[in-house]
Amino acid sequence: MPSPLRPPALAPVSTVILGTGSFAPAGILTNAELSKRMDTSDEWIVTRTGIRERRIAGPGENTSDMAVKAAAAALADAKLTPADIDLLVVATITPDLTMPATACIIQAKLGIPTTAACFDLNAACSGFLYGLDTACAMISSGRYRHALVIGVEKLSTIVDWKDRTTCVLFGDGAGAVVVGGSPRPGIGLIGTRLGAFGESVDLLHIPGGGSNAPATPASIAAGDHTIKMKGKEVFKLAVRVMEESARDILEQHGLQADQIACVIPHQANLRIIEAIAQYLELPLDRFFINVDRYGNTSAASIPLALDEARRAGRIKAGDLTLLVAFGAGLTYGSALIRW
Ligand code: UT7
Repeated sequence: MPSPLRPPALAPVSTVILGTGSFAPAGILTNAELSKRMDTSDEWIVTRTGIRERRIAGPGENTSDMAVKAAAAALADAKLTPADIDLLVVATITPDLTMPATACIIQAKLGIPTTAACFDLNAACSGFLYGLDTACAMISSGRYRHALVIGVEKLSTIVDWKDRTTCVLFGDGAGAVVVGGSPRPGIGLIGTRLGAFGESVDLLHIPGGGSNAPATPASIAAGDHTIKMKGKEVFKLAVRVMEESARDILEQHGLQADQIACVIPHQANLRIIEAIAQYLELPLDRFFINVDRYGNTSAASIPLALDEARRAGRIKAGDLTLLVAFGAGLTYGSALIRW
């Protein structure tokens, strides 16, 4: 039975984050454990990436299950319930099923009303910023009141566990925010810059499983259903594009980098974050970093870090936070939030 329709909301002046939450599965995979399984070492992984361990979801622990836990924490933080949500945006490249959207599975598990709009979005590691911008625009229209934006991944199911150049990098997890409107000007999401370099799709992709290359025994045997990445090229682009996108958004808003209290970068590699800090001439302690504990969790990376940063007291009322991401597509994005 459809839930009763709500009257339309009035267009708000600002869109604000009302609550954050995150979830990481209990299973920890350390560099030492990986070193027993393949020709790698803690020393190589830490020096090249800053990663010490990553979380791995259990076999029955689905993308939607992790998302539900992160979302429940974000709702509790916002002092709202699933009944208050009329928009659910899920950024993921590891949906429970190819069809339908994982957002619909999450909707049912959480008990979000059937009058809520629910959809998935694929922008890989930039997915959360794409989702946040989309949700804020929809709330700004006045047609939606409260959105849940979730970034969630079970990347352990799409990495090639025999390829040491990629499998040491990725992990599983989820992060969520609740977004709503505010009559106060100048707070919340004050700007975003999103973009993509579609000509470089091949630098980071999964070749098999889509409609142009459906799964066959041969494609499975060839490992076509796992992540392929040209690491060095992606690394160089990540540094350049994240720095440029951060600079652009600051310039657009007449801000200097040192006015940012906390930068939440996509957590792919500590060396990428260090390079961005250097280019922006900001001390590294201005960046929130948890790549050492989770590795790269793609769309979950920024909301997971944002939630941990808030809970660690790194974000205070009135602060400016800069979010910046880069990932497969190749997509990128930055966002400025005034708390
Ligand atoms: O979220 C989307 C964005 N993704 C990223 O931003 C990832 C970007 N790329 C990277 O972070 C880095 O390129 C990597 C961490 C993937 C690789 O670091 P690198 O410094 O570019 O190393 P490399 O690929 O040049 O490899 C150096 C050496 C090679 O050996 P040779 O050819 O010099 O003999 C690799 O075979 O290290 C070897 N190697 C490893 N050795 C031990 C590669 N992976 C490993 C490993 N353990 N896990």
